[in-house]
Amino acid sequence: MTMSPAVQAEGLNVRRGRTPVLVDLDFRIPAGSITGLFGPSGCGKTTLMRTITGLQHYRGGLQVLGHPAGHASLRGRIGYVTQSASLYPELSVDENLAYFARLAGGEIEGVVEKLGLTEVRGQRVSALSGGQRGRASLGAALVGEPELLVMDEPTVGLDPVIRARLWDSFRELAQEGRTLLVSSHVMEEAGRCDRLLLMREGALIWQGTPAELLADTGTDSYEDAFLATIERGNR
Ligand SMILES: Nc1ncnc2c1ncn2[C@@H]1O[C@H](COP(=O)(O)OP(=O)(O)OP(=O)(O)O)[C@@H](O)[C@H]1O
Ligand SMILES: [Mg+2]
Repeated sequence: MTMSPAVQAEGLNVRRGRTPVLVDLDFRIPAGSITGLFGPSGCGKTTLMRTITGLQHYRGGLQVLGHPAGHASLRGRIGYVTQSASLYPELSVDENLAYFARLAGGEIEGVVEKLGLTEVRGQRVSALSGGQRGRASLGAALVGEPELLVMDEPTVGLDPVIRARLWDSFRELAQEGRTLLVSSHVMEEAGRCDRLLLMREGALIWQGTPAELLADTGTDSYEDAFLATIERGNR
């Protein structure tokens, strides 16, 4: 496996309208790993994800899978699970996955099985539980066999059992060599990641491994570590 990072930002800046939303970000996301993106509401997580997937104009350096973000050759190599559901509620799970598979040129059988969707594959998405819908959305991003998976709060609103199961799926995907970038508000989930990016008001305030975050802040809870890091920025 290549050791060059899947994503590398150098002096990345993004404005929305006249407002700077991402300011001078420098970071790297190693290939074949899970990176967690954390920060208060409005700090810029979704904007960063949109930028990496090529949906947002930016200035500065942003290399994704060896190309500048937004480059035509990245099409089909990135899967993006957005914060709001992107499935067609009136279609069945199978019909949705088949639609996305046609777009991406992939096939759905392996994905249905891997995500435990076999029992609900014939059901309309509108009739799924939150957890089933979460897995179906992930499935839609996976059918194209993307090398880089960008997931915006994929576990929000899910119960702890389903969240744990989803994180197990994320780990399996990383073990297959895929790179995952996952945003979340649930700080305990930081412990499931290989690396963390902590943001605040458009800036990257901390990056490193979960163990380094705890050591750095002298706490044993990710929640406390996160609050301590945010507080530090206020001084
Ligand atoms: N379409 C837009 N036009 C202008 N500004 C925007 C737009 N979308 C978001 N913003 C601003 O950009 C900033 C970052 O928003 P973003 O959605 O990236 O935050 P976030 O970290 O994903 O928040 P949340 O945790 O609530 O999802 C916010 O100040 C927001 O108001
Ligand atoms: Mg967001």
